[in-house]
Amino acid sequence: MPSRNESGLWFEPLPADIRRESSIGAEVHLPASGPPVLDLASLTEADKDTLRQALFENQVIVLRNQTGIDPTTLPALTRIFDPTASDIHSAGEKAVSDPRNILSAYKAGRLPCAPQVGIIGSGKFRSYKGIPELEVVHLDHTTFHEEPLPAEKLAAGYTRPYRWHMDTPFYERLPGEVTVLHAVQVPELPDQKLSFPDGSEEEIAAGATAFFSGARAFELLTPEQQEFALNTTVTYAPQAYEYIRHCKATEDGMTIPTMGRETKAEDMSEWQWDKVAEHPMVWRNPGSDRPFLQVHGCCVYKLTTRDPATGTLTVMNDVERVRATVYAMQRRIWQAGHIYAHRWQEGDLVVFHNRGVMHSITGQLAQYQKEAQADDSKKRLMWQCTMTSGTAPKAFRTYGGVNETGFVRV
Ligand SMILES: [Fe+2]
Repeated sequence: MPSRNESGLWFEPLPADIRRESSIGAEVHLPASGPPVLDLASLTEADKDTLRQALFENQVIVLRNQTGIDPTTLPALTRIFDPTASDIHSAGEKAVSDPRNILSAYKAGRLPCAPQVGIIGSGKFRSYKGIPELEVVHLDHTTFHEEPLPAEKLAAGYTRPYRWHMDTPFYERLPGEVTVLHAVQVPELPDQKLSFPDGSEEEIAAGATAFFSGARAFELLTPEQQEFALNTTVTYAPQAYEYIRHCKATEDGMTIPTMGRETKAEDMSEWQWDKVAEHPMVWRNPGSDRPFLQVHGCCVYKLTTRDPATGTLTVMNDVERVRATVYAMQRRIWQAGHIYAHRWQEGDLVVFHNRGVMHSITGQLAQYQKEAQADDSKKRLMWQCTMTSGTAPKAFRTYGGVNETGFVRV
């Protein structure tokens, strides 16, 4: 329900023709009496409660026209949704630069004045916030999908989700409750198109960030799959992003369809089992009694299912089968009506519930790189802040022996 109180912060769900069946999206309006750009010191405790309600009910919230926001507001905002958030970006104290890790490809930087805030985008920038030279790369599906779109489809404006994920390395650090994104600069580019398995097509902004709700994904499961999911724990691959570095994904960006390119344990940077992420397959989130199916289909490694009646454990540790099992559960969300693709406007401040949605990059921006060198209007610059939580995701169904520590128990 919209909560409207002109003297305080209020929100309204995005229009029904944008939300459709996604269960996602609300716009937050700052108190009329306060500053137009978010300053947390001006919010009351009631305003912060409304902010939490907006986010946990709608999974993605947007505040428009936030150009000029203080970068340190982003980590502080994160803590409104997760008081246990550490002061460290969940990718680590510095941006990932180890070439063994697939996440280094973004060439993401950090703001010197707020090291918890990453810089992502497309193009080269000079003297930006104390960084003499900055080059950021917008990754797209052509580098990660087994069979990328052919040249003629790319020329006709088609794109795909790059990789559905939650923001977390699945190693050593727990996923943040939320991620905050801020659009500093949005390129002026023609819309692009997604196509879906049922043959439908969807026009989206070039570079839209796509989301689907874990709660909707759970609702779409058969009763048998729901029962399986509620009784199952997911173990992620050790150093998951190094493990899949050479792997290629399906055209929906949800899973890896073939085996054989996985990095061998001895070729990965040092790791130990007690730092490898292990989470329930279905999460209980704050502010909602809905179960959330939260699984990263490309990074899964092992499933452990407990029979609630007998306590008997069944372990599935054939990675190919694990991937196929998760994919069979998650893939049906890939329909136009279930996806919310955020159309970025300059100044947008978006908070998304990292533990309640899966999200993906979309868009083919690389083709504009050349123009972007001479034409600033083709560049993109965003801030991104997601901080390691102090608390692990909770199982929706608790039972004896369920692992809610966030890591493999050894
Ligand atoms: Fe992300």
